[in-house]
Amino acid sequence: MKKLVILTGAGISAESGISTFRDAGGLWEKYPVQQVASHDGWLADPELVNRFYNERRRQLFDVKPNRAHELVARLERHFDVAVVTQNVDNLHERAGSTRVVHLHGELMKVTSSRNPDDPDCIETLTRDNFEVQPGQRAKDGSLLRPYIVFFQEAVPMIETAAMLASQADIFVIIGTSLNVYPAAGLVHYVRPGTPIYLIDPNEVDAHMPGVNYIRKKASDGMEELTRLLLGKPEDNE
Ligand code: OAD
Repeated sequence: MKKLVILTGAGISAESGISTFRDAGGLWEKYPVQQVASHDGWLADPELVNRFYNERRRQLFDVKPNRAHELVARLERHFDVAVVTQNVDNLHERAGSTRVVHLHGELMKVTSSRNPDDPDCIETLTRDNFEVQPGQRAKDGSLLRPYIVFFQEAVPMIETAAMLASQADIFVIIGTSLNVYPAAGLVHYVRPGTPIYLIDPNEVDAHMPGVNYIRKKASDGMEELTRLLLGKPEDNE
């Protein structure tokens, strides 16, 4: 089976009702990114940061995967698919994708603030118990923090993602402004000559020649990509 690697960003979840970050009315217009999503912001006010992510988690229960997530999952019937997502939501998994690499962490997980990548300290929250309370501690006694890669922090999954990109037979980019590194640089690991598709209703510069642009929203764009890749629309079974 051909290896298909799909890099996604906030735009794939927009039709599910989750705001993107940098579009008009996006999340970073309402909340200063330095306060709620940077390492310094966490140190300055952990309660504010935990409240912000408690709120994001609550929103996740009200939304569901859209057609784009579903079509991404269905491509596993035809390709060896790896999804590399910058999103911290769980909509790819809920749509049925089985291999999802989260570059920027996962909303439904929390961890130690002393050693965020210690597997023993990573806990998965449940629907009944998703709010981190002020002063709540991780297993190692440090303050419990969101399992989110904040700005100013390293991106541990980037090596896995770069390896996947370098092995791709087809590379697809959906709904990301490609503003945030190192994720935005993944396209440079794709082998020369590999077909690259980019689905986004707005102009995005992939900094790469030969990209096939599909200037549509994620769900319509995925319908078109599926037709292009399979030579027919995906059935609905
Ligand atoms: P951005 O908000 O920067 O970009 C969203 C992209 O989605 C833009 O290119 C939009 O044109 C596009 N878009 C909007 N609606 C769409 C739709 N219906 N279908 C398809 N595309 C659509 O979000 P990201 O690129 O994901 O990190 O942002 C990257 C990272 O910056 C995030 O993971 C987050 C943020 O700060 C952290 O919080 C660590």
